[in-house]
Amino acid sequence: MSTLIDSFGRQINYVRLAVTDRCNLRCQYCMPAHGIEIVPRKELLSYKEMYRVIRVLTELGVNKIRLTGGEPFVRKDFIGFLEMLSFNDLLDDINITTNGALIYNHIETLEKLKKVKNINLSIDSLQADKFNEITRRNVFDEVFKTMEALEKSSMNLKLNVVVQSGINTDEITDFVRLTKDKDIAVRFIEEMPFNGKGQREMQEAWNYNTILNEIKSEFDVTEMKSEKSSTSRNFLIENHKGSIGIIPAFTRTICGDCNRIRITSTGTFKNCLFDDGVFNLRDFIRNGASNQDLKELFLSLVKEKPENGFVAEANRTKGNVSESMSTIGG
Ligand code: GTP
Ligand code: 5AD
Ligand code: SF4
Repeated sequence: MSTLIDSFGRQINYVRLAVTDRCNLRCQYCMPAHGIEIVPRKELLSYKEMYRVIRVLTELGVNKIRLTGGEPFVRKDFIGFLEMLSFNDLLDDINITTNGALIYNHIETLEKLKKVKNINLSIDSLQADKFNEITRRNVFDEVFKTMEALEKSSMNLKLNVVVQSGINTDEITDFVRLTKDKDIAVRFIEEMPFNGKGQREMQEAWNYNTILNEIKSEFDVTEMKSEKSSTSRNFLIENHKGSIGIIPAFTRTICGDCNRIRITSTGTFKNCLFDDGVFNLRDFIRNGASNQDLKELFLSLVKEKPENGFVAEANRTKGNVSESMSTIGG
């Protein structure tokens, strides 16, 4: 069987699929407060189309999928889609990135879907007022309750904390403290200028090193051996049940071992978070492409995967990286 290998010899076994561009929150670093253009429903890939695309990708060696959005649980019958995906015997892991505001009542159902192993929950503040200000919605209590329930569930839980200069940087050590008694991986993410408004003032942005120094000011950390293609570098602290990690999302020191491709909710294929989309799968499918056509397409598209995010950004034809993460799928 042919497998997806890019021109740098990297094996692609992981796809990130955004099931919707819509979101029930309006995080400041992701979306503007008003005036968001949402994509008409018929322009989104249907679940059937998504299932088919994923099936073809798994026949080419993909065995791990991460479902993102927008907020994936905003899309109608998302659980039904997870059930559908579970039937794909070539998929080992079905992971989800969510803001957690809509899932409390679904946790037991998710646990029963054995392939749903990892939930990444976005939570940028442990203070209700600040959390609600960042997300521009009143959902702190709900998300916090969900976090505690997920921690007790059979699924692995990671927290995604986007480090926003002067907004939540004073809480970095509070988040680390959370790992003392909770079996959670807290991951601090470098903020990227993807908030739908164009390039944001990023000079002040905290980066991998400043985040690590802040943590070290209070804790002794030991670096763990991470999976080769992990987005985060991970650390343990003695006597802490959980662990911490830092994602150099913007400084992009992780690109060398990248194993992933992305598909947006409208079916745009992306080889990198920073490229501007290289192919519209939706139109290709709707114009009658066969599974064999799709296979050949994927094998050739991954050959164009850029070496790293800087090359991808430089090759953009649509100007600055200014899309919202909700359309890219994170
Ligand atoms: P795991 O599979 O648990 O490692 O999750 P993940 O870190 O790949 O995914 P998640 O959706 O939790 O994303 C966390 C952060 O990492 C987000 O800010 C993403 O945009 C960023 N991220 C994910 N993949 C990439 C990537 O390929 N390149 C860069 N630069 N950042 C990425
Ligand atoms: N910079 C860094 N991370 C971001 N995310 C959303 N927007 C940004 C940004 N501008 C994160 C979310 C979510 C993940 C998919 O991406 O917090 O956890
Ligand atoms: Fe919604 Fe996630 Fe964007 Fe926040 S970061 S507005 S939760 S898509």
